[in-house]
Amino acid sequence: MQRKQILGRGANLSRRDFLKLGGAGLAGAALLGTAGCGGGGSGSNDVLLSFGPDDTGTLPKAVEKFNKQSDFKITYREMPSDTGQYFDKLRTQFQAGGGDIDVIVGDVIWPAQFAANGWISDVTDRFTDADEFLPGPMQSATYDGKIYGVPWYTDAGLLYYRQDLLEKAGYSEPPKTWDELQEMANKIQQDEGIKNGYVFQGAEYEGGVCNGLEYIRSHGGDVLDPNDPSKVIIDSPESAAGLATYRSMVESGAAPQAVLQYKEDESHSSFLNGEAVFIRNWPYMYSLAGSTDYPDVKPEQLGVAPLPVDPGNQSSSTLGGWNFLINATSDKQDQAWEFIRFMTSPEQQKFKAVEGSFLPTRQSLYNDPEVTDNVPVARLGKEAIIENSTARPVSPFYSDVSLELAAGFNSALAGDTSPEETVNTLQEEIQSITEQGEQVS
Ligand code: GLC
Repeated sequence: MQRKQILGRGANLSRRDFLKLGGAGLAGAALLGTAGCGGGGSGSNDVLLSFGPDDTGTLPKAVEKFNKQSDFKITYREMPSDTGQYFDKLRTQFQAGGGDIDVIVGDVIWPAQFAANGWISDVTDRFTDADEFLPGPMQSATYDGKIYGVPWYTDAGLLYYRQDLLEKAGYSEPPKTWDELQEMANKIQQDEGIKNGYVFQGAEYEGGVCNGLEYIRSHGGDVLDPNDPSKVIIDSPESAAGLATYRSMVESGAAPQAVLQYKEDESHSSFLNGEAVFIRNWPYMYSLAGSTDYPDVKPEQLGVAPLPVDPGNQSSSTLGGWNFLINATSDKQDQAWEFIRFMTSPEQQKFKAVEGSFLPTRQSLYNDPEVTDNVPVARLGKEAIIENSTARPVSPFYSDVSLELAAGFNSALAGDTSPEETVNTLQEEIQSITEQGEQVS
């Protein structure tokens, strides 16, 4: 079985080089992408699973439970926590013929690219209860009308705040606008002598893309036209205004200079060690509050709210989350599916929500009191967040688009490029990726 490979930057052969090859070159390059038979597996009957580090400890616990009742065993291989670095590792393995991983826990931004290359299995026929899952995550697992994964948990950007500190300062509500956030952060930071007012993920990586998009969209801008996703529309006054607000967080001193390098770990460590008043983060962080690693800030001290907005616009949260995917070259397709069904069952999703504050992908769990009573993030999530969260562009070239966005947003946040210059450059770069993509597909 041979398939044309859709390559991305950082691949052995860059996508642009690939495009330059043309005719005969394409045929040669196709050999690189052979999704052959065999491969996969970790020896014997065992099934190899990959995912990033799990701070909440819920994944190893679930794997252990599965292994106790199964006649084959799951082995968990830990991958980098930076989703881009994890992606690069997988891509290298796929390009080398498939690698040994059977089940991949993959970011919602990957299925389009992996599916277009034939690297992951089409599970449409097996996945008979797909309509019980949330539509947003299901869309992330769908490419060209076929389903390539089972959504495990969903993510959305949230604003967490120190309820105790806001009350002390006389605020009865969390901020609704970015300006209010900045003002409150500056005031409480000074009054209380706290190191940081507001922290988030501003580094040049995928999380920085998620953060930057929230500013652009909550000012009425976007990257692609929602009504015609082939049209790039990032070069607009609204998007520039979004990046100006983003930059102002650092410029005003509300956020430390260090946010330029912050990913999830650095930002949650700052907040959970009591060094920040506000943080933008994903739902998982709630379960870390008051844990042995972070005893200083207790869940009772936390408030959670939708992300702020520019007045007159809508709050926007980037849709994140992770899906179970099966390596197309794995010879353990049935075992992989059995494990995935176990992990995405209502019982396991409930366990993950209650213990790890991860948002379930099964719709029914949002009406389950055990979940809503124990996981305030889930209560807020379904009503205010999940239904309003917006996906990143779905494209076989998303990894290229993301690299441009990550660099542009980080440079705008640093003040190295003006907001206008940034959206103008991004417009050209993304347009060129999209146009070249159309020529090969
Ligand atoms: C979270 C999200 C994922 C996103 C990543 C960025 O893990 O679930 O979709 O790409 O953060 O750091």
